[in-house]
Amino acid sequence: NKSTYILGIESSCDDTSASVICNGKILSNVVANQEIHAKYGGVVPELASRAHQQNIVPVIQQAIQQANIDKKDLNAIAFTRGPGLMGSLLVGTSFAKSLSLALNIPLIAVNHMQGHVLAHFIEDENQQKPPFPFLCLTISGGHTQIVKISDYFTMEVLGETLDDAVGEAYDKSAKILGLPYPGGPLVDKYARLGNPKAYKFTKPKVDGLNFSFSGLKTAILYFLQKQVKENPVFIEENLNDICASIQHTIVEILFDKIKLAVKETGIKHVAIAGGVSANSEIRKVLKETESKYGWTTYIPKFEFTTDNAAMIAIVGYLKFINNKYDTNKTSATARLKV
Ligand code: KG4
Ligand code: ZN
Repeated sequence: NKSTYILGIESSCDDTSASVICNGKILSNVVANQEIHAKYGGVVPELASRAHQQNIVPVIQQAIQQANIDKKDLNAIAFTRGPGLMGSLLVGTSFAKSLSLALNIPLIAVNHMQGHVLAHFIEDENQQKPPFPFLCLTISGGHTQIVKISDYFTMEVLGETLDDAVGEAYDKSAKILGLPYPGGPLVDKYARLGNPKAYKFTKPKVDGLNFSFSGLKTAILYFLQKQVKENPVFIEENLNDICASIQHTIVEILFDKIKLAVKETGIKHVAIAGGVSANSEIRKVLKETESKYGWTTYIPKFEFTTDNAAMIAIVGYLKFINNKYDTNKTSATARLKV
């Protein structure tokens, strides 16, 4: 049995990451987060590309070192082609191309969103892989999609957000509350200590399986402005309840749609993926659908929720064993469909 080693490179947003996997099993998964964006309250594209430029060589070296292999053992290089920030994507793309040329091994372009979904196929004794077809709710800082996955390479977007992504709804709400970027994990943390029914925010009315989150952000802003006028320390005094109520509304919006998707497709295998799938309430509510509705659910390990290169490497591996290669002509693409 021959070993196949794939190097994955991810640089679509503000995390520089490299991972080596062997026959679908992780040997290393190094992620360098960019602290620089916190003080600006969001990702600054120009600063992100510069940080990738600084991080990419050490991150890749570390990934190869931790995997305890020689770079000559690599069979292919997989990289994120898009979607993402152009300047950020270019760093990973150019590096991947150069290395594939230098090592004379194939280059495999990967769609970042496909990576989030197929992270469920990383080999792990403790994780069950979803059978085809299954539904995946892919929720991140840039995307909110319900995807039907018929096989590794056949994905259909059944619904998506018409405006803000759910991660943006979290981060923008957090910003209004005076919390630092990225605020999603903090809202989640305070929400666990609060009353989810303390305040009520209206849910958007959107047809079919699409989502909308921009109205929620505005509703939260107006609500808080009004309260703070009457009580300047309203936010400080009620932070847990506010976060719990926001989280409750977001989770209801998501589950109304995923329930509809299950009803419409008849598919009861449901996975979550993307940065927001780290959310404790979303994980809990999804798990509860197993006994409540008879669904089978697939919840990723924390390390594979937010952006990482292992999810790019696994797509690279699946493409490699199916002889799906790319050439040095592939280019970074900021807007790329699944
Ligand atoms: O997938 P990801 O790392 O990057 C994109 O591709 O966008 O997702 C990042 C997003 C951010 O909006 C962050 O606030 C959110 O995931 N996030 C969370 C949690 N952990 C990360 N949102 C809610 N609850 C969490 N626990
Ligand atoms: Zn992502």
